[in-house]
Amino acid sequence: MIEIWNGQQTEWKLEFEFEQQDKGGQMETRCEKTTQGQLVMVVGLGCEQEFTPLLARRAVAKGISELKKLSVKSAVVEPAAMQAYLGADTISVVAQAARLALFQPEKWKKEQDEKIFQVYISAGDKKDPARDLAQALKLAGMVLEARNLVNRPANMLTPEIMAQTMAESAKKAGLETEVLGLSQIKALGMNAFLAVGCSSGNEPKLIVIRYNGNPETSERIALVGKGICCDTGGYCIKPSGSMGGMRGDMAGAAAVYGAIMALAGTGAKVNATAVIPAAENRISRDSFLPGDVLVSMSGKTIEVGNTDAEGRLILADAVTYAIRKEGATRIVDIATLTGGVVAALGYTTAGMLTSDEEFAGVLQKAAQKGGEQYWPLPVFPEYKKMIQSPVADLQNVSSDGCSSITAGLFIGEFTEKKPWIHLDIAGTAWTVPPKWEFQSSGATGAGVTTLYHLCRMLAED
Ligand code: BES
Ligand code: ZN
Ligand code: ZN
Repeated sequence: MIEIWNGQQTEWKLEFEFEQQDKGGQMETRCEKTTQGQLVMVVGLGCEQEFTPLLARRAVAKGISELKKLSVKSAVVEPAAMQAYLGADTISVVAQAARLALFQPEKWKKEQDEKIFQVYISAGDKKDPARDLAQALKLAGMVLEARNLVNRPANMLTPEIMAQTMAESAKKAGLETEVLGLSQIKALGMNAFLAVGCSSGNEPKLIVIRYNGNPETSERIALVGKGICCDTGGYCIKPSGSMGGMRGDMAGAAAVYGAIMALAGTGAKVNATAVIPAAENRISRDSFLPGDVLVSMSGKTIEVGNTDAEGRLILADAVTYAIRKEGATRIVDIATLTGGVVAALGYTTAGMLTSDEEFAGVLQKAAQKGGEQYWPLPVFPEYKKMIQSPVADLQNVSSDGCSSITAGLFIGEFTEKKPWIHLDIAGTAWTVPPKWEFQSSGATGAGVTTLYHLCRMLAED
């Protein structure tokens, strides 16, 4: 479907241009015919000074979707105009954007739209373009797997099914996997995770996937992803309008799974462990209640102010597990955690919170490479006071608003002074209609590329 171009005749060529006079406006397209009879679709990149890798991805996807509308079957992509800015990443960026643009989300009805489109990428004088292409397609493939998992309805993706699906593929890819069930989770004392998990007849699972890419170091990054397969809110029940989308409340889990699979698939020299607490937040005889006090795995006690603030409860124990059982030396947690982050940053930008500015600096570079946007939230001391409880060490809701910051800081209380980054992707993980041309309606696969590049960049130091 996507190959390096080696001179084949194609119906169309896809080219790019920066803004000049009245041509090249951002995402504007026009068609041309050269004197040799080649049909060319040109996509505008806008002002040269404002170019970003994200724009490159958008432009490639825009061109491909315009060609698809014309029922074109094959095209060669000529990224020469962007080469000066993308440098060695050119093929990777083009291939990923093309792959994402060609994605067709899973459907559960008979008619499936089947359109075959062949993309050739002009490699210029790049050495070993096939390797770049293979790595890019591996990464893009994992973004799409993440999208499929997140889109899947809750009845088709219970914690057990998610654990089986992930563990099976990870094992096939040569990764170490472990799935802990109810009795093991109990034995570990993960009572904050259990409180949420026991609210459903579909039992919780702790999914652990280890990638050992560098035996020469004991450094290990933990990627901890929120795996709530459906979030009804529990006894603090959500209004029906906002419940349907909560099948996507495991987007953090899909992101860490996608990233670690892509790291393994491309042979990155890094040690990483994906830790995924998978559970449903529902109403049952055994559901936890507002006012309950939980003794977490760390020993810290938590007063439950709201059963709908379940993500931070399961992540707290998962972070403790990552440090104490997996020997994590750095932590990133990623979660569709708060409605507040959607209100603050919308659907294009995720929230970020950190205990380590240098680590966060690497994440920003990784995000740029991955075509994603993250924005730091402040962590002034007064915010921590908002999650103090009169009866326990912590409470799971803030006494004074600032939900995205306080939710992040709550998780930070379990990080035992390890370098830590918290990513709140509640806005970016799901978008209807799509915000960028390379997205599809629904799940976006948010976080996969950024986490992948973050781990790779740490390894290169
Ligand atoms: N899963 C939700 C957050 C969410 C909201 C994700 C919108 C995606 C889109 C989370 O568990 C939640 O319910 N958070 C509450 C917390 C509140 C009760 C303290 C929120 O942010 O409103
Ligand atoms: Zn919730
Ligand atoms: Zn939730």
